Amino acid sequence: MSDPVRIGLLGRGTVGGAFAELLAERAEAVEAATGRRPEIAGVLTRDEGDFGEILGRSDLVVELIGGTDPARQYVLDALRAGRPVITANKQLLAQHGDELFALAREMGVQLRFEAAVAGAIPIVRTIQESFGVTEVSKVFGIVNGTTNFILSEMAATGAAYEEVLARAQELGYAEADPSDDVSGADAAAKMAILARLAFHTPVTLAEVPYEGIETIQPDDLAYAKELGLSLKLLGVAERRDGGISVRVFPCFLYQGHPLSPVEGPFNAIMVEAPAITEVTMSGPGAGGVQTASAVLGDVVSILAGEAPVHEAREELPIVADVTSSFYLHLEVADRPGVLAQIAQVLGDNEISVKSVVQRGIGDDARLVMVVHECIESRFATALEEIAELDDLRSAPRAIRVIEKEFV
Ligand SMILES: NC(=O)c1ccc[n+]([C@@H]2O[C@H](COP(=O)([O-])OP(=O)(O)OC[C@H]3O[C@@H](n4cnc5c(N)ncnc54)[C@H](OP(=O)(O)O)[C@@H]3O)[C@@H](O)[C@H]2O)c1
Repeated sequence: MSDPVRIGLLGRGTVGGAFAELLAERAEAVEAATGRRPEIAGVLTRDEGDFGEILGRSDLVVELIGGTDPARQYVLDALRAGRPVITANKQLLAQHGDELFALAREMGVQLRFEAAVAGAIPIVRTIQESFGVTEVSKVFGIVNGTTNFILSEMAATGAAYEEVLARAQELGYAEADPSDDVSGADAAAKMAILARLAFHTPVTLAEVPYEGIETIQPDDLAYAKELGLSLKLLGVAERRDGGISVRVFPCFLYQGHPLSPVEGPFNAIMVEAPAITEVTMSGPGAGGVQTASAVLGDVVSILAGEAPVHEAREELPIVADVTSSFYLHLEVADRPGVLAQIAQVLGDNEISVKSVVQRGIGDDARLVMVVHECIESRFATALEEIAELDDLRSAPRAIRVIEKEFV
């Protein structure tokens, strides 16, 4: 009989606890697949275990503590000691990826992190291995289940953001402190990781601008429905103008877009490349057992053999000013000439209007427009100029739109 593989488990919370259970349940299957039976060599929590001792009796280390401190130090120590490491920690990789990957390569050990992006969806393996030498042009999708749940509920019920957030917290889809999720910061960390893998270039969290969903109003969703749009928080990483653009923002999608029907706490990611056209994967993006299942998959991969550790092959510049279509929501005085004034400002900034819906609200009117793809900085200028118009009744609201109807 071959030696068991001893796993040092750092963290036994939602994911760590589920991983320990799943490992016990599937130990025989892992042994059948890899020839080695996994067992837990020791567990570290805030009040249990000693890291040095656990490391000493482990063949591989699974980091499920979260955050960067002390997780970074533990992962560095484990790699330096020649132990392969599995982590689900997106913050750690998005902020300290260069250092960790460099050390793993130097030590010739594996660093795997399938669970760090989109829970149970095997997107990391797919991009790193299946599309490892494919010229990926774009990776984008819904990488945060909390915000997708909130936006789906707001659209379905017409309820306000705060009310739906409270419901999401009751149901366990949002944390007590939801700020990382609703601000887009969590999605930005995941997109930094995906961009790094897809484009083989160093990308850190600090280079990913993000916008969240906190200011989305129920009437944005109601009007959008009339225009045939659904709202998602999207992470987008794409090649543009010899560089890359990596961003997170709320975005309207036309019906027929593959991401449009993805509702509730689910994630979905699309990869585009000339050689593959496009591939979409969807599934649960979080949850104890779902995330633990991705961690267990990494255990099997490590036992089954070598896979290359990520290495940046080039340094692509980040392109800041890109083009987008926008939805624009304006409350204005219901007077002749107002629409002409707005059209003038847009025209002066080379922005053309695709559709307009106008409604009277007492003495005022609400204008909801979709404008064709334009340079974002020009649109920002136009928005500032529109905000200055005397006939404007409240601050303009703008949300990006993916205009291309999927065919
Ligand atoms: N939850 C999900 O659905 C999900 C999905 C994808 C990825 N992830 C990632 O998985 C990781 C773990 O998340 P989780 O939800 O399982 O977190 P969690 O429930 O908060 O569990 C964290 C665990 O780490 C331990 N821990 C915290 N600080 C520590 C320290 N300084 N020293 C030693 N142990 C410490 C905690 O110990 P105590 O038990 O003593 O508090 C607890 O056992 C994170 O990187 C997260 O981003 C989670």
